[in-house]
Amino acid sequence: MLKTLVCNWKMNGNLEYCAKIKSIFADENYKELYNVIICPPYTLLHQFEKSAFSLGSQDCSAENEHRYTGEIDVEMLKEMSVTHVIVGHSERRRCLEEKEERLIRKLSVVLEAGLIPIVCVRRVAEDREYIKDVYNAFMSFAMTKRTTDMLIYIAYEPESSIGSGIPDTLYSIGENCCRIREIFKNDGRVKVLYGGSVNSENIDDINQLCDGVLLGKASINYDEFSKILRANLNCESSQIEVLKTYLHQD
Ligand code: PGA
Repeated sequence: MLKTLVCNWKMNGNLEYCAKIKSIFADENYKELYNVIICPPYTLLHQFEKSAFSLGSQDCSAENEHRYTGEIDVEMLKEMSVTHVIVGHSERRRCLEEKEERLIRKLSVVLEAGLIPIVCVRRVAEDREYIKDVYNAFMSFAMTKRTTDMLIYIAYEPESSIGSGIPDTLYSIGENCCRIREIFKNDGRVKVLYGGSVNSENIDDINQLCDGVLLGKASINYDEFSKILRANLNCESSQIEVLKTYLHQD
């Protein structure tokens, strides 16, 4: 099954890096492994308007009114061919003090616009109520619109693993992803990702436990990113098999 690879460039990237990245995608083999979503800074979105991969935004405005200086509207993102939006990355929650209530509003704006949200959450122990609110917002949208062909990504990202070089343990990744699925009542429209210090060495094992990963650093390092696109998803790790059985995942 295709795994999702969300590439969050944060405040990185320039024209030169965009050109290099496009050259990596000239090799079509990755399409058998990954559904790639590149999330560059706003200033570089136009570099990828017609690309082999999907385009994501790192954020958007929670408001529909056009009087918020510096904010970016979902309709503007759609004009740039954006299809996905990251909602509430923990750096925004921690450093920019974005609160859950505002993030739920943002999620609704994204869904209303017909874009696919990638909602970042911390450990279930810390964020259980927020994850439930995300679930309720998603379900109430689905019910009002009576739409079945929608999708939401939930990216499990423990704060201590983001940018630290220390990924969460496989056990904890498996457990948290499983708990998130439970909160979403195993709805097939929900894809659960893991993010936090994923690299070319650990990605195959992690991918066995979830629907894909969210990459930070590794997506803005050309050599590392090329290695990841060539990674082998068929690794047979007995440790993973045991874990999967324990967590009852398929
Ligand atoms: P990292 O970032 O891969 O550099 O740890 C992950 C993230 O942005 O969530």
